[in-house]
Amino acid sequence: MRVSVEVNGSAETVDEVWEGESLLYMLRERMGLPGSKNACEQGECGSCTVYLDGVPVCSCLVAAGQAHGRSVRTVEGLATASDTAERLDPMQQAFVEAGAVQCGFCTPGLIVQAHDLIEHNPRPSDAEIREALAGNLCRCTGYEKILDAVRLAARRKAEAR
Ligand code: FES
Ligand code: FES
Repeated sequence: MRVSVEVNGSAETVDEVWEGESLLYMLRERMGLPGSKNACEQGECGSCTVYLDGVPVCSCLVAAGQAHGRSVRTVEGLATASDTAERLDPMQQAFVEAGAVQCGFCTPGLIVQAHDLIEHNPRPSDAEIREALAGNLCRCTGYEKILDAVRLAARRKAEAR
């Protein structure tokens, strides 16, 4: 099957996608986008989270064919590139500065999910952050530094307004 999909702003076509193939597999193995991680492949951990038509989804649970004609944004697509430099998205930058990354396996999914949270709720309470990230599992950090990162990104976003 041929899948035509917009990924991170570029129109892409992928051939010979098999019917059981996941969007996660297509992104990582066929499109050279390994940012989204494959940890459980069962919708349990959130490490594969990407935007599909602007809504965060577990890409391991979405068939690649379901993305046909739609728009996908991965963690790679959050950064902005110019001719001279790549600039991290403020949520990516906050994760780095807050020390919220250890092994990094959970990080891309958490960043996409947290990015979505502060798009819709620029001043989330701690309870709202925990609720929004409840589907994203991390076995390294103990979550406190992840909360710090989201608070930092939200504060900067609010100050920039
Ligand atoms: S790899 Fe998709 S939810 Fe864990
Ligand atoms: S940093 Fe290792 S699983 Fe989260």
